[in-house]
Amino acid sequence: MPADAIVDRYRRPMRNLRISVTDRCNLRCRYCMPEAEYVWLPRRDLLTFEEVSTLTDVFMSLGVDKVRLTGGEPLLRRELPELVSMLSRKPGLRDLAMTTNGVLLADHVEALRAAGLGRVTVSLDTLRADRSRSLSQRNSHAAVLEGIASVAPAGFTGTKIDTVAMRGVNDDELADLIEFGRTVPAEVRFIEYMDVGGATNWSKDLVLSRAEMLSRLTDHYGPITPLADTGAAPADRFALPDGSTFGIVSSTTQPFCATCDRSRLTADGMWFRCLYAVEGTNLRDPLRDGASFEELRALITGRWEAREDRGAVDRLAERDRMPFIPVATLKANPHLEMHTRGG
Ligand code: GTP
Ligand code: 5AD
Ligand code: SF4
Repeated sequence: MPADAIVDRYRRPMRNLRISVTDRCNLRCRYCMPEAEYVWLPRRDLLTFEEVSTLTDVFMSLGVDKVRLTGGEPLLRRELPELVSMLSRKPGLRDLAMTTNGVLLADHVEALRAAGLGRVTVSLDTLRADRSRSLSQRNSHAAVLEGIASVAPAGFTGTKIDTVAMRGVNDDELADLIEFGRTVPAEVRFIEYMDVGGATNWSKDLVLSRAEMLSRLTDHYGPITPLADTGAAPADRFALPDGSTFGIVSSTTQPFCATCDRSRLTADGMWFRCLYAVEGTNLRDPLRDGASFEELRALITGRWEAREDRGAVDRLAERDRMPFIPVATLKANPHLEMHTRGG
């Protein structure tokens, strides 16, 4: 960590930067992009790779040492391996990862590895093609499986599979997904369905809680052991009786805001300090207006030091919980969408 690493009002450091490289996606998962139409960010507003790299340097000088590329679907951004190689050359970057839906992964996996990408996380909600079609509103299941199969042969380790667990949708596949994960090999993490911006179909009845997931998996496998806390990582990890592991991200019922060290940069240079934040900071304009490294540092420092966000904890206090942001508001301000600020 740099000597002048910053902390927020709750003494949380800023270590994990999620960089969304595009707001576009080639799937329409019902928990993330259920609407028929979307308002997209204007292309001229997208940060160039040089701009992303400059901002990353500023963030790193203040404590960031983990970067995750997201979207939308990051592989829809042209020449992404070029950005990966610019970032992977930065000496202080401890972890460079990417979250993808896997559809285009097989085509790009070698180039990403060669460019220095460290880890890959692929979203996979079901092993059944028919369910995948209805959940993602696209016919891409075979391509996703091919993408997942391409990761280990390309030399990646530490691969993860992210599954949004939803009641009545894929809750009968938890054990099957763990078994599939072993074959990849990849650690499966079950994510509670969150009422984030964009999740306009959210209802609490569809949330499969961490407690329920554990009870179902215990019925199937026998006693499950919680593994030691890994600090700021969102997933709690568990071991099955045979020692193999899986994770649960319980952002909805047991949020991890108290140790949250993450923030998000959108493809057009808006910086959000919480997944649920309604206001962000425009870093693109100062950058394009010629702000110096020190000026950008001061801007970011001021905002982080004032940070009090605990979005998921605040949502927990909400009675009669409904989707967080109404559709009309999302259309007026696409920065509120999860697919814009990085899933
Ligand atoms: P690792 O470094 O591999 O642990 O990555 P990660 O878990 O941070 O990244 P990933 O993209 O795999 O995130 C997993 C899921 O956690 C996301 O898809 C979200 O559902 C949830 N999540 C990610 N970031 C946040 C966040 O900032 N706040 C909350 N509440 N949930 C988040
Ligand atoms: N709840 C939980 N996770 C979500 N993601 C997107 N929308 C939601 C939501 N409403 C995350 C999932 C998915 C990735 C693309 O974004 O992890 O795999
Ligand atoms: Fe961090 Fe906000 Fe997510 Fe809580 S809801 S973990 S504060 S980003």
